Amino acid sequence: MIKELRGFEILDSRGRPTVMAKCILSDGTVGSASVPSGASTGKAEALELRDGDATRYRGLGCRKAVANINNAIRGALVGKEFDTQEAFDNALIALDGTVDKSRLGANAILVCSLAYARASAQQEGVVLYKYFGRMIGNDDFQLPRPTINLFSGGKHAGGQIPVQDLLLVPVAAKTMDEALEQVHSVYLSASELIHEKYGMRALKADEGGLAPSFRNIDEMFEDAMKAIERAGLQPGKQMAMALDVASSHFYKEGKYDLGTEIRDSLGMIDLIRSWVDAYPILSVEDGLAENDWEFWPHLKHTLQDKCLVLGDDLLCTQVARINRAVEKDAANALLLKVNQCGSLAEAAAALRAARNAGWQVTVSARSGETEDNWLADLATGWDGNQIKIGSIAQSDRLAKYNRMLELEQGDELKIRDWVYPGN
Ligand code: PGA
Ligand code: ZN
Repeated sequence: MIKELRGFEILDSRGRPTVMAKCILSDGTVGSASVPSGASTGKAEALELRDGDATRYRGLGCRKAVANINNAIRGALVGKEFDTQEAFDNALIALDGTVDKSRLGANAILVCSLAYARASAQQEGVVLYKYFGRMIGNDDFQLPRPTINLFSGGKHAGGQIPVQDLLLVPVAAKTMDEALEQVHSVYLSASELIHEKYGMRALKADEGGLAPSFRNIDEMFEDAMKAIERAGLQPGKQMAMALDVASSHFYKEGKYDLGTEIRDSLGMIDLIRSWVDAYPILSVEDGLAENDWEFWPHLKHTLQDKCLVLGDDLLCTQVARINRAVEKDAANALLLKVNQCGSLAEAAAALRAARNAGWQVTVSARSGETEDNWLADLATGWDGNQIKIGSIAQSDRLAKYNRMLELEQGDELKIRDWVYPGN
């Protein structure tokens, strides 16, 4: 039974307000959690409730969301007993009653969902990833393979290049420990290279990615190749790449504005294919914009022999959008972010929809994170093929990597192999 539920306003990795919640069960078990926040958000995401008071945190305060936890949610749930996580989440969804969670706020709802999960797992004496696993009927646990930011642009780095993230994929590493050590080595090589080339310190973007003033996108790829080689690793064989193009954010009036040139959808697809042919890229996220549905099937067919065609803004972790993409054959992988839909139960339904279509799933953090590490347990419990957290920098990112190192050493979990599309 729920004895107490409390919300707090705390600060995320960008110093912006976000929400933390504490759930206390009748036997005194306490679970707490905090939620992240995006910057390059999809239009279809559930609503993150912000105060809108321009005199405080430029309108980004979360006092309204916190008040909703301490009043409406607390009032409805305290004294109630729930048999499952889904039952708890469904009570919150019903209490909100809107499609986009705009009454109570997706941040307020999700943080309660997570705090309840932590408290319930603790009460049952189940480690959190196993509790999450039970939600989807999984009891065979492996660590997801990490995809780790090296370079950043777009909305995470002041837009010096339009592409948002170039990530490293340690494809050959046999353990999480080895994967992180290899990525760290490339990250340091890239920092040195940038210092030599651009004469700057390794200034970091929101997710800890390096953000030098590349003159163009090719230079970013070339520098990544050099950094991999300089770290003594073979590009493609030992260290591959992934991209988050995040193209919704430079899609204007039906065209892709790359700064140096403007391309239509087919031109954008040709450009991405030329990158995939030239560099060892295994996954391309949001190659086209979230509402460019017409051309996504073409993007998928152009890339699917070589890489994952991953939908983030396109899908927003929502069953209806995933089903539409399956029907149109528009993607072959889901980027799963629980705060895009706003509850664990709905995210689990999105995961099931993607799995039913035979898709791979990358479980992802947001660009504004906290030191909470539940994402590592979620990705492990939900059998994510990959996890995307950010760079090997900043405590908000490292908290999740450290949790996976703990699970590797403590629970002896193995790391998942990279599965090439078509295998
Ligand atoms: P966001 O970006 O958290 O700022 O939305 C992450 C991503 O686009 O994958
Ligand atoms: Zn993205």
